[in-house]
Amino acid sequence: MKKILVTGAAGQIGSELVPALRERHGGENVIAAGHRTALPADVQESGPSIKLDVTSAAEVMKAVGELGIETIYHMSSILSALAESNRQIAYAVNINGTYNILEAAVSHNVGQVIIPSSIAAFGPDTPQENTPNETIQRPNTLYGISKVFGEHLGNYYHEKLGLDVRGLRLPGIISWKTEPTAGTTDYAVAIFYGAIREKKYTCYLGPHTRLPMMYMPDCIKSIIDLAQADGSGLKHHADFNVGAVSFTPSEIAEAVAARVEGFEMDYKIDPMRQAIADSWPDSLDDTAAREEWGWTPSYDLDSMSDDMLKNLKIKLSDGG
Ligand code: SER
Repeated sequence: MKKILVTGAAGQIGSELVPALRERHGGENVIAAGHRTALPADVQESGPSIKLDVTSAAEVMKAVGELGIETIYHMSSILSALAESNRQIAYAVNINGTYNILEAAVSHNVGQVIIPSSIAAFGPDTPQENTPNETIQRPNTLYGISKVFGEHLGNYYHEKLGLDVRGLRLPGIISWKTEPTAGTTDYAVAIFYGAIREKKYTCYLGPHTRLPMMYMPDCIKSIIDLAQADGSGLKHHADFNVGAVSFTPSEIAEAVAARVEGFEMDYKIDPMRQAIADSWPDSLDDTAAREEWGWTPSYDLDSMSDDMLKNLKIKLSDGG
């Protein structure tokens, strides 16, 4: 079988996408590529891995060619908050890295490339409620600009070069395996750590900041479902909105307090992350994804909170 390459395999999504793909396609067929951060033990043990710096065109070209790659899940990305303070590295990874992946894919006849976009591809001029798939984008963060670039570049390689590039605008992702710390939506993960460890959490976004969010099992499902969708039914390619849930810090705090007795949340607003969050949608219209490849999420705020607390308690009591 031809091989699947997952970049960013140590990241929040990559560390869960690799096991999901290995279960479907066989451990030996899914190559986990990481760079700076060590891969989680289960990812290292369940199949092959390589060290890959996506900012190096030569390294990417060599790896894709030598490994006989058929599909690439390009998950490497510097998230929104970190990108604002590390402009050069964010540009190198998010913009040059994406270009390097697409060029290597074309040169080595890769069959399909999946490049996630984000709610960050929208900006302050975008209609915020039920944001349409096609609307004003104009993001004002480097991360968002790089995601719009990835969408357009993906569509370009599809239209002009015949490469099957697909992508989806993911909301904030909530998960218990690998804690994200470089983004703006991460408070919705950190709140669960705070609740279990000390029954409290100080939130860096204001109580009424509504953002689209998604639980990891839905995120993995959305990525794999899009990759496997019949291409003849797709009118969009690298730019699908995908919605799941949408809530504010005060609403998730209520859901956590209903499950963790004595939990309390207070607020200390970080102006940088607050401004980023304020420029993003409140909720997404994902009709195109539902119609073109049958997208439906499974988790709401309550079922997600139950599952998060259950799994994170186990992880933290195991010393994770
Ligand atoms: N979770 C990301 C971030 O906050 C959004 O794509 O940066």
